[in-house]
Amino acid sequence: MQLLDGKKVSEDIKNEIAVEVQQMKSRGEKVPHLAAVLVGSNGASLTYVGSKVKSCEKVGFESTLVALPEDTTEDELLAKVKELNADPAIDGYIVQLPLPKHIDEQKILLAIDPDKDVDGFHPTNFGRMALEMETFLPATPYGIMELLERYKVETAGKNVVVIGRSHIVGRPMSILLSRKGYPGDATVTLTHSRTKNIEAITREADIIISALGVPHFLKADMVKEGVTVVDVGITRVADANVPRGYVIAGDVDFDEVSKKAAFITPVPGGVGPMTIAMLLKNTLLARSRKALKGE
Ligand code: GUN
Repeated sequence: MQLLDGKKVSEDIKNEIAVEVQQMKSRGEKVPHLAAVLVGSNGASLTYVGSKVKSCEKVGFESTLVALPEDTTEDELLAKVKELNADPAIDGYIVQLPLPKHIDEQKILLAIDPDKDVDGFHPTNFGRMALEMETFLPATPYGIMELLERYKVETAGKNVVVIGRSHIVGRPMSILLSRKGYPGDATVTLTHSRTKNIEAITREADIIISALGVPHFLKADMVKEGVTVVDVGITRVADANVPRGYVIAGDVDFDEVSKKAAFITPVPGGVGPMTIAMLLKNTLLARSRKALKGE
C-alpha cells in the first residue's frame, strides 16, 4: 500500500510557488493577492479560511480576510463582491461556502468576476472545465488530479466511482476524470444518495473518490484488492478525549480499507492540504494572467 501523502505533496507545491513569488519580487513585479470572504462564524469555515490566509503568508502572497457578520444581507454581500471585482489590487478571491441560509449562493457566485474566481465555481469557469478549455479548476478536484499525477496512478480506461454529486467536489471530479488526457480518460460512475446497491458499484471500481461526509462509510467489503481510494470526507466527530473536543473523520474506514488498497489518502493529511495548495496555484495563475494584460 502506498500512501497518497497530500501533506507532503502540498508542501512541495507551496515551496514551488514560494520560489516563483521570490522571482517575481526580485524582478520588481507585483506578488499575487488573494482575498477570502467569510460570512458568519461557522467553526469549520473559520478554520479553513484561517489556513488559506496563513498559507498565503507562507508563500509570500498578499492576503485580505473580509469577515462579515452572520446577519449580512444578500445585497450587502453583493456590494462587497462588486467592490472586490473592481479592486485592481485583488488578483483573485473566494467566498467561503456554505453561506447563511438567507443568502442565495448561486446569485453570489454568478456575481463574481470569472477572471478573479480562483475557486472555479462561476458557471463560465465550470463550463470551460467541462469543455476542456483553459480555466481555474475547483481547488479540491484539482488537488486530487495533482495527487493522482504526482503518484503516477494510472487512470486511462479505469473504472472510477465518485461518491457524492456536490458542485464543489463530486460533480467536477466526475467531469475531470472523464476528460481526455492524463489524469483522465477514465470510465466514470457518479453515485449519490439515490444510488441503489452502491456496494455492487464500488466493488467494481479501480479508483474510488469519496466525497460524502459520512464518517467511515466505505468499508473493506465494498472495495476490491488493489483499489485506489481518495477520501474527501472531513467530518467533525465529538471526542471528549482531545482538548478541542472533536476529531476529523474521513468517509473511509482507513484501517481496514488500506489493507486492500494499492494507493490511499489519509485523513487528515490527504486531500485537505492539497485544496489549499491548489487555491494558491490558481491565485498565482490569476496574477500571471493579469500581468500578461499589463495589469
Ligand atoms: N467550502 C468547502 N470547500 C470550499 C472551497 O473549496 N471553496 C469555498 N469557497 N468554500 C468551500
